[in-house]
Amino acid sequence: MLDGDLARYREQGFIVIPGFKSADAIAGLRARAQAIVEAFDPREAASIFTTKDDSVRSDAYFMESGEAIRCFFEEEAFDETGVLRTPKARAINKIGHAMHDLDPVFEAFSHDERLADIAFAIGLRQPLIYQSMYIFKQPQIGGEVTWHQDAAFFDTDPPSVTGFWFALEDARRDNGCMWAQPGGHRSPLRARFVASNGSARLRAIDPTPWPTIDDAVPLEVEAGTLVVFDGMLPHYSAPNRSPRSRHAYTLHVVDGTAKYSKDNWLQRSALPLRGFA
Ligand code: FE2
Repeated sequence: MLDGDLARYREQGFIVIPGFKSADAIAGLRARAQAIVEAFDPREAASIFTTKDDSVRSDAYFMESGEAIRCFFEEEAFDETGVLRTPKARAINKIGHAMHDLDPVFEAFSHDERLADIAFAIGLRQPLIYQSMYIFKQPQIGGEVTWHQDAAFFDTDPPSVTGFWFALEDARRDNGCMWAQPGGHRSPLRARFVASNGSARLRAIDPTPWPTIDDAVPLEVEAGTLVVFDGMLPHYSAPNRSPRSRHAYTLHVVDGTAKYSKDNWLQRSALPLRGFA
C-alpha cells in the first residue's frame, strides 16, 4: 500500500491498487478457470445466480457450495424452453466458492503475503478467507448486479467483511465495470441474506435508499488491478452488452476475532478456514 492509501480507504471505503498481479499470474488463473468450466457437466445444475430480486436460494447445489468448486449460469443463458443459448463456456456466470482452498492454482493466487499485509493494515486482526468467486461477466449476456453491500452475505459483529477484487481483464463502463459510492460504507446495512432450513433469502433490515449512478464512481481499471473494499460499501455493476467479457476474481475475508453469524448462508464445517499466509 502506498502512503495515503489507508486514509483513502477510511474516507472512501475502497482503494484501487493498479498492477498488483502479474500478467503471468492472471493468465494462469484464467486458464485454470477455463479448465474447470470445460470439465463441468451442465446437467449437474441449472443453478442461476442473481442478486437482482429478493431471490430465495433453496437449491442444495448453491447452499452447499461454500466448501466446493461449482459453476453457476448467467440468468439469460437459457431460452424459454430451458436450452442453453450459447456454448457452455459463454454461459457461466461464476465459479464458487472454495477454489482458494481446493484448487492449487487458485490457492497460490489467493494466498499472497502482500494481501495479508493489506488486511492487517486496514485493521483485520485475524483475516480468514471465507469465499472465492471467479466472475465471468460474459459478453452480451453478463448480468446486472444491483446495488448491494457484501456485508449482507457475511454478517459479523462487529462488521468486518472485506472484499479483495482482482481485475483479470480491463473493466470499463461498456463491459460492466463496478460502480461504488465513495463514503457509502458509513451508511447502514440495508439487507441481510439469511439462511434457515436449507434455504436463504434477502431480508430488508433498513429503509435507507440505495445510491444512484449520480452518487457513484465507475471503477474503470486495467487487468492486474486490485480493488480492496469495505463490506459495507454499496456497489453495483451494469449488464455487459459489449462483445468483450469482464473476468474478475474476488475473495471475501472476515476477521476471525469478530462473531460470525450462525445464519449466514456460508458455514464451514469440514474444510478449515485459513488466512492469506
Ligand atoms: Fe458485491
